[in-house]
Amino acid sequence: MKLTAWISAICLLGISPLAAASLTKTSDSNWLTGADEKTRAERLEHYLGGFSSAMQDTGLRYAHVKQAIADGNWDLAQYHWGKIATAIENGLMKRPARRANAEAIFLNRAWEPLAAALKEKNGESIAKAFQQARQACMACHVAEKVPFMNDQPLFRTP
Ligand code: HEC
Repeated sequence: MKLTAWISAICLLGISPLAAASLTKTSDSNWLTGADEKTRAERLEHYLGGFSSAMQDTGLRYAHVKQAIADGNWDLAQYHWGKIATAIENGLMKRPARRANAEAIFLNRAWEPLAAALKEKNGESIAKAFQQARQACMACHVAEKVPFMNDQPLFRTP
């Protein structure tokens, strides 16, 4: 891995997970119902995570889309493709600073063509739109300074 990739990986972690201990350290197993209102909200926010939990969901569904397209199961691909937009939106609610790139590169550009192609069940345009969507996922990783995300089996062409 290149030095710049390491630096961005370290920056991504931000505050160390241990710094959240003041929020997570409790002797009460009723960690929500036993807490005051503010702590409860803070714990939920912390537990639901930031952009990475939305991306984990996105990655899983993307793998399902890829497989469903390979299987010619357009309905299943359409199902997961729809959920991917929701997953990314949920991530943007938690990390609004990522919205500009997410919309410009993916949501307002690459998402719709694949959704439309799947609806039409046109194999040729599905294959083309999927490759464009894949490129958009990877372009956003570069734009958001996590280029190392792209070097994994998920993004290798079948
Ligand atoms: C806003 C631009 C953006 C778009 C669009 C985007 N990603 Fe990401 N992705 C990120 C960022 C930023 C991270 C690192 C998140 C973090 O660590 O908080 C990430 C992380 C990931 C991860 C690792 C998640 C984990 O923690 O396990 C996967 C997998 C992933 N993206 C897949 C995808 C796929 C597939 C697409 C396209 C369908 C996509 N991403 C579209 C920005 C984007």
